[in-house]
Amino acid sequence: MRKPIIAGNWKMFKTLPESVAFVKELAPRLGAYSGVERVVCPTFISVAAVSDALQGTGISVGAQNIHWEAQGAFTSQIAPGMLQGLVEYVIIGHSECRAYLNETDETVNKKVKAALAYGLKPIVAVGESLQQYEAGETETFVGGQVRAALNGVDAANMANIVIAYEPIWAIGTGKNATSDLANSIIGGTIRHTLVELYGNEIAQSVRIQYGGSVKPDNMFDYMSQPDIDGALVGGASLKVEDFTRLVEEAAKAKGV
Ligand code: 13P
Repeated sequence: MRKPIIAGNWKMFKTLPESVAFVKELAPRLGAYSGVERVVCPTFISVAAVSDALQGTGISVGAQNIHWEAQGAFTSQIAPGMLQGLVEYVIIGHSECRAYLNETDETVNKKVKAALAYGLKPIVAVGESLQQYEAGETETFVGGQVRAALNGVDAANMANIVIAYEPIWAIGTGKNATSDLANSIIGGTIRHTLVELYGNEIAQSVRIQYGGSVKPDNMFDYMSQPDIDGALVGGASLKVEDFTRLVEEAAKAKGV
């Protein structure tokens, strides 16, 4: 069985003291839900302190980005080796990075390979725009993003990769994709693409999250879908109460 994974993407929210105080309050509340993998992704400035505060709690830390080079003259960037020992996961290819930071399919692929080389687990974000959705291009576009992100990634590494399907039109808009639609893109398009690339057995083992206006009240619905293995959550991961409920609902829906 694929272990459900709920990751909170804090984006550019929370100072260092706020981040540490948050996880200290959150960790005891999530202690009982070890059947769900729980991940918080703070900003870089808080990664080390949050990682420290979460030692021994079973809650993992993720970064929100990396550079693909080992080191060098890349002002403002963070190399994968700098995150070793601090994070287990790294979000790569978030639509906000694609839109505002010149992230392309090519840089996503480089970052995925760099993360894997340093033992970091990529959460690879894909998803179509509203225009693409309305033009009926979702399947082709998202399938293409998955292929591009995984170009040259061998089958043995797929156990360390999570994919997050986040339709751009559903992010932060309150206009979430229906759970049936999300399941059909995840179970149809994305998993089928993985079948073509790696065969059925590996495709069935890769965890695929949904993201985009996930809230405590719709979490159960998403997680009741057979192909949705978790969620990448923005806004609702910023409150202890909501984060706790997200994990509770996931555990309930998946029976773990
Ligand atoms: P919201 O949950 O705020 O819609 O954000 C989704 C997201 O972008 C997570 O990466």
